[in-house]
Order: sequence, then structure tokens, then C-alpha cells
Amino acid sequence: MTNDNPEQYDFVVLSNRLPVDRVVAADGTATWEHSPGGLVTALEPVMRAADGAWVGWAGQADLEFDPFYSDGIHIIPVTLTADEVENYYEGFSNDTLWPLYHDVISSPSYHREWWESYVLVNQRFADAAAASAAPGAVVWVQDYQLQLVPKMLRAARPDLTIGFFNHIPFPPYGIYSQLPWRKQIIEGLLGADVIGFQRVADAGNFARAVRRLMGYVTKTPLIEVPGEEPRTVLAKAFPISIDSSSFEELARRPDVQARAKEIREGLGNPKTIMLGVDRLDYTKGIGHRLKAYGELLSEGRLEVEDVTLVQVASPSRERVQAYMQLRDEIELTVGRINGDFATISHTAISYHHHGYPREEMVALYLAADVMLVTALRDGMNLVAKEYVASRFDETGVLVLSEFTGASDELKRALRINPHDIDGLKDAIVHAIEMPREQQAKRMRSMRKQVLRFDVSRWSVDFLTALRQSRVVPAVIEDDDDPLGELESTIDRIRRP
Ligand code: G6P
Repeated sequence: MTNDNPEQYDFVVLSNRLPVDRVVAADGTATWEHSPGGLVTALEPVMRAADGAWVGWAGQADLEFDPFYSDGIHIIPVTLTADEVENYYEGFSNDTLWPLYHDVISSPSYHREWWESYVLVNQRFADAAAASAAPGAVVWVQDYQLQLVPKMLRAARPDLTIGFFNHIPFPPYGIYSQLPWRKQIIEGLLGADVIGFQRVADAGNFARAVRRLMGYVTKTPLIEVPGEEPRTVLAKAFPISIDSSSFEELARRPDVQARAKEIREGLGNPKTIMLGVDRLDYTKGIGHRLKAYGELLSEGRLEVEDVTLVQVASPSRERVQAYMQLRDEIELTVGRINGDFATISHTAISYHHHGYPREEMVALYLAADVMLVTALRDGMNLVAKEYVASRFDETGVLVLSEFTGASDELKRALRINPHDIDGLKDAIVHAIEMPREQQAKRMRSMRKQVLRFDVSRWSVDFLTALRQSRVVPAVIEDDDDPLGELESTIDRIRRP
């Protein structure tokens, strides 16, 4: 279908956060910085290839921007007021849904005014998408912050094809049912043609919630939605991934390898460098990791001269109480362990409360003999895949929590239950002592998986399912197939 309105797009992605954040320094100077988190990491290369528009928030309250073009992506900013940042983003998204969807590791708070703000902001995103989508366009809504958008958008624009992808887990019904607005969220999501989840278990949890709350018939992976115009919704696992070859390319660059060597030297060339890379979030099990490591040092199973743990903990959601408390706890523990075990020449934990550019991250992955991913619950965990993609020489050991989506795919990692501290300690020692041939066997098999199932494959699979799910709606009075454009989008993603 041709579209003559230059401000409308055939392919529109919505996520709470844009790939760039507006950051204003204390002296008032403003810059655009790369946004944190797995969602942006995964979607950026897809969006560059797709030539669509990305609707989202620039990370600061009350800022209004006109749409702009940045690094191959059309950006359409949505404004949030300071109240909305507090109620919709910090409140309902990150202090209700986030803990609820991550197995209530931290207690969710339920506040009606947060919910009202969530509805209002979801409507704003739906309106922005409705305004920027060309007739018959494909709109792909991302993540838990925008679960009401599919239904709102369908009401406004029945001509659109709507996909939704949930980047975080979908909890078992016994937990989900706590949510006072549990039915509204399910109805919101069912406005989509295809609902994607990270794991088969998440899709199963969702279908169960639909049966229990709505009484609809589900025939995995399909859900029958009754009504004046009955519809069938596809709800299925599409495990997300990374731009794997770009990580490998970086890792093969001589300057990145030189930087990895410099990092090792800077740490005093210990026999083993272990690495943790996380947003500073209570779902990541950073405390469990530190506990295991501290005990190993105190029992003399590890010596500080031989092993250093590098922990990158990037700042996250710093105005939410649970995150402030977590930061205090983690930093106290890091201080204690360093105080007890570090020597003048050897530090036990090299702790960094920053984000780093991708080159530096890859240098860290190359410098690390052991990667520790000990999340208590994680939709996917792309850091695990980034480590594997970067280890082109097939050395290195990944210790991986079985509570991550990644552990469904990376079966040759050393899989652990982070709650079992003794088991975690044994796995760390096993990883450190693993002979090279065994490392290579495991790494080779994991690399095959990560290089084959990369982010382009993920989006092509999702968009192909979306293409197949939708019959051309009657409201389109055009001889062209409005989804024809999607074919070329899929082709461009496949061959960027
Ligand atoms: C996770 C979520 C994303 C989120 C990111 C960073 O990856 O799935 O939706 O954007 O964390 O969190 P933030 O609250 O800073 O956007």
C-alpha cells in the first residue's frame, strides 16, 4: 500500500523507552545518551534495518520534542509529566508490575492512582501510534509498561496489524491473580494479533490466566476471543536475542583485544577474572553472587591473589525505594568483602556503578574467564548471550541461573539455582578449574545457538507470525495487500 503522508510509517514500534535518553547535566547542558536495558539492545539493529518509526519516552519529565531522525531510526517522542513519571513509570510499571511479574522477589505495591496514570499514559502512546501509523500499517508494541495499548489501538485503528512482545516473564496464575486490574491487562493484551513471550512457560502462564479470568477457549498457541467479530490471537514463545555477529566482530578487533589485555593487567593479572554485568536490580541476584564469592574467599577455597570479581552494576530506577535499598545493601557487601580480603596489590571485587559503551563491554567479556549470571528471575538475560557471542576463541565459562529465559537455550552453560549458595559455590569453583577442552566443547555448542538464533531471526520469526495471523481487514478499501509492505520489512531485517 502506498502512503503519501511523510509523517506516517508502515512499521511502527512502541516502547516506554526510546533508544536514546535525554540527559541534563548539573550545569544545564543536555546530551543524548544510549538507553539502558535489554529491550533497546535487542531492538536497535532491527529498527535500523526496518526503516520504521520508534515511539517512546526520552527518559526525562516534561520534555517536549518534535520527531527527529537519529542513527538510522525515526524517533517520535512521547512526553510524560513529572506526576506520570512517578505514577505510571516508577509506580505502576516498576513498583507494581515489575516485582509482580518477577515472582514477587520484592513486594508489589497496589495503588489506584498509579493504575489511573498507567491507563492515561497507555492511551497517550496508543494515540501517538494511531497518528504515526499509515493505513494498514504494522504496529509492534513492546513490554509490560504498555500492555493496554493493543486494545486501545485496535479500537481507534481496526485497519492496523498489532503485535505485542513481553520482554519480561509472565507470572504463574497464583501470582498474577494478585493484581487488582488483572482482567483489564488481559483484555488490553488480547487486542493484539500476536502476543510474544520469552519462554514457553510464559506463554502457558498467559493462556492459563486467559482461561481462568475470561473463560475463553485456548488451543495452544491459539486463543479464541469471542465478540461481535470473533478473533483468534496467537500467544507463543519467541525467545529474544542479540546482534550476535556484531559482538563477534567487536571481539575480533585488535584495539578491543588490546583493551582486554590492559584490563587484565590493570587488575594485576590474576589467574582468573570473573565478571558480573547487570542493571542494579533485585531480580539479578547480585547479593547471592557476592555471598557465594565472599564465603569461598573466607573458607580459603579461593585466594584473592588468584581471583578477582569485576562487577558492573549499571544505575537503574534510582528513585524507586526498593532500588535505593538494594544499592545500599550491595555496596555495603562489596565494601565488607574488599575490607576483609583485599590486599594492597589485589582487590577482591572491582565494582563499577556505571554503564559502559559496547566496545568496553566486549573488552570486559574478553578479559573474563568466568561470567556469572545469577538472576533470581529474568525474562531472557542478554548479557549471557553477549558473553557467548564475544568468546570467538571458544574459551570461557558461563555460569547461568536456571531462572533466566537464556537457560532454556544455553543448555551447555553451568546451570545453577542461585538460592542454593553451596551449589553456586561449587559451580564457581568448577568453572574456575574447568579444563580448556571442556570449556571449548561447551562454548562451541552455545555459540552455535547464539549465532544462529540472533535478533534478526527473532524479529523475522515474530513478524512472519504477525503476517500470517492477519487476514486483510474489511475496512481497507484498497486492492493492494496492506501487509505487503511487511514482507519487504522482513526482507530488509533478514538482509540488513
Ligand atoms: C528491562 C525492561 C525494559 C526496560 C529496561 C531498562 O530490560 O524489559 O523495558 O527499558 O529493563 O529499565 P528502565 O526502567 O530504565 O527503562
